[in-house]
Amino acid sequence: MRMVDIIAKKRNGDPLTEQEITFFIEEYMKEKIPDYQVSALMMAIYYQGMTQEETANLTKNMVASGDVIDLSPIEGHKVDKHSTGGVGDKTTFIVGPLVAAAGIPVAKMSGRGLGHTGGTVDKLESIPGFKVELTNQQFIDNVNKYKLSVVGQTGNLAPADKKLYALRDVTATVDSIPLIASSIMSKKIASGADSIVLDVKTGSGAFMKSFEDSKQLAEEMVTIGKQLERQTIAIISDMNQPLGYEIGNANEVKEAVEVLQGKRVEDLRELAIELATHMTILGGVYQNYNEATQSLEKLIDNGDALNCFMDFIKAQGGDITVIEDLSKLPGSSYKVEVKADQKGYIHEMEADEIGVAAMHLGAGRATKDDDINHGVGITLRKKIGDPVESGDTLAILNSDQENVENIINIVKDAYTIKSEKTNKQKMIYEVIK
Ligand code: URA
Repeated sequence: MRMVDIIAKKRNGDPLTEQEITFFIEEYMKEKIPDYQVSALMMAIYYQGMTQEETANLTKNMVASGDVIDLSPIEGHKVDKHSTGGVGDKTTFIVGPLVAAAGIPVAKMSGRGLGHTGGTVDKLESIPGFKVELTNQQFIDNVNKYKLSVVGQTGNLAPADKKLYALRDVTATVDSIPLIASSIMSKKIASGADSIVLDVKTGSGAFMKSFEDSKQLAEEMVTIGKQLERQTIAIISDMNQPLGYEIGNANEVKEAVEVLQGKRVEDLRELAIELATHMTILGGVYQNYNEATQSLEKLIDNGDALNCFMDFIKAQGGDITVIEDLSKLPGSSYKVEVKADQKGYIHEMEADEIGVAAMHLGAGRATKDDDINHGVGITLRKKIGDPVESGDTLAILNSDQENVENIINIVKDAYTIKSEKTNKQKMIYEVIK
């Protein structure tokens, strides 16, 4: 088999066989195929697409390129959740303990990564003492005992994806739906869960801005999951504005805990319950949507989910007095208000720009060696549909820098205010099974 023939075949729009895909991944991993040939293949895929069978074969080979986490020592049906990423997304801190309270084991490995804020494990490190590095045995024991553990990524999961992604990033071939779908699913499948619930974001703060693209990505990922024998469901959820009101690290943990304490942060609570509903049905705890939703609402309202969260934090060394008194979480030196300069209704928000502003405050990493400041971030006071008077506070910057004029402007410009009344955003667009 020759790589040049595989490139030509794909360039001409013909589907690649399983053997051809296995050949190119295996040989590329052994460094027997150069980056320039793989770049050419990525570009051919970008233009010609891939069939469902090709996408599943690519995913399978990327999984096989590295470790596959063995979760079999954990009792029960393991369900994982994955979000394609958005601004203010702290649902893991609500969904994890909620699903655990319903009896489903949640064994989650999460990354740090680059972005507007830290990743899940960075956010958890806002809690003094919390350890994200456990031995494999501790991780398994904690899930068996408390039904929930979240640790930093270990093992060499889907290294072929890492290599391909780095190449796609510099060859303008990231934006290919089959390549994105196989990239995400390879890492999820290698993480070892039996079933997967995907939260595919759509809108101004999402990786996929249009609903059509988000839906296509969701459908492709669900198909891959099924072909590789994982029950998979995708929810398409709104990301035209940040989720909830808090963006940052400590302040996202705080907002999630407040929801577990019963605070009605409507969009965040709705999405968390929707995700937990599908996870618990896939896990076999509940039979249908209504039963699941009503039971999960109760598990928040009666404090069981919060107790699971406390147990999980304590088991990983975290200081739970900080959860009991959230004012002890890291904070910032300054609080700077961003004010509206006209009256009307919040019509649109550039969620991405709010995320960029949070990163400028120090909440996220622009490069992988940057440090994160856990105490800084943005607290929104207004969201889409809210009425606003000139001079009202749109958002508060929780900053350690005194002069943040440029960041104030980014946040102010992210809001569009119009005189006509605007409806609130809906949260859930579609569920793909
Ligand atoms: N996220 C991933 O993990 N892979 C992609 O290709 C794009 C986004």
